[in-house]
Amino acid sequence: MERFTIVESAHVVPERIVTNDELATFMDTSDEWIHSRTGIHQRHIVSNENTSDLATAVADKLLAQANLSADQLDFIVVGTMSPDHLTPSVAQQVQGRIGATNAFAFDLSAACSGFVYTLSMASKLLATNYQRGLVIGAEVLSKLVDWEDRSTAVLFGDGASGVLLQQVSTETGLLAESLKTYGNQSEFLTAGRQQNMNHFAGNIVTADPYFHMNGREVYNFATRQVPVVLSQALEKAQLTANDIDVYVLHQANARIIASIAKRFGQPIEKFPINVTDYGNTSAASIGILLDELRKNGAVHQGQKIALAGFGGGLTAGALIIQL
Ligand code: ACO
Repeated sequence: MERFTIVESAHVVPERIVTNDELATFMDTSDEWIHSRTGIHQRHIVSNENTSDLATAVADKLLAQANLSADQLDFIVVGTMSPDHLTPSVAQQVQGRIGATNAFAFDLSAACSGFVYTLSMASKLLATNYQRGLVIGAEVLSKLVDWEDRSTAVLFGDGASGVLLQQVSTETGLLAESLKTYGNQSEFLTAGRQQNMNHFAGNIVTADPYFHMNGREVYNFATRQVPVVLSQALEKAQLTANDIDVYVLHQANARIIASIAKRFGQPIEKFPINVTDYGNTSAASIGILLDELRKNGAVHQGQKIALAGFGGGLTAGALIIQL
């Protein structure tokens, strides 16, 4: 077991809400199509903020809630696939802005598995000699969306979330995990291709910021592979699906979540869903849901929860956590 406790959780989303009906005013789509296929009704979209702004707001909230100063942090890890720059990373921008002078900071890129991968890596840091750190998932996916491609534009939203983790000696923390990468299926979901403009470049690869996704393949991947990683993590923890109090899954599509609940023979009530309000916020989604569940009391100390993410890479990952 990798011991830690979740001291605080927080999330922020941009103020601007874009409903399915609003999308239908400039795109050939409808609330009926989007809602019936995905469960999404609306998403939050930035006007001026970038990923580092949302991530910094989450960091500020976490420190204020915990009544800690930034110099008490040992590390900041941000899961993101939509950083402001290639360098500095979002985590480094956050570290500078909040004045976390004793913390090292870096980003981790694992698309919609970003929160799970980042939390897993943070648990390894806490198992060594680091005491306290922030795990943040932050995305401004709206800058990667081709707003003329209805097959992807309706799916994504902007937002950020995070947890403040602290090393403890109690029997809480990560019981088991299963992280998987399937790079041979990477072409099913790509975004943000870079251009090589060097003087010597031969076949110039042109830049392409936009999402390209084979939705059906990603759907099939998620419904097949999330049960695999969840089962592997449960087996390592010597637990059964019944032992888990709440399943906090990446919020991409309500139908994917329902299919996974059915596969495990678990009541859908154990699989909370908020994709309706936020769309797919990639690395931010699990943390947004976890924060809502902690704040409304549905997730609390003493419970066992399972977190699972899946998406670009392709990647999948599951963590079993004792709160
Ligand atoms: N509005 C109306 N019609 C649409 C829209 C839209 N927004 N988008 C596509 N259509 C049309 C298509 O053109 C197609 O029409 P056709 O049959 O005339 O060609 C029809 O609807 C069906 O399209 P499909 O793509 O087959 O629809 P599907 O049932 O597969 O649903 C969806 C698409 C919702 C994207 C689904 O495949 C899905 O959820 N996939 C998983 C995506 C995902 O979870 N990604 C997560 C990872 S993201 C990350 O890592 C960042």
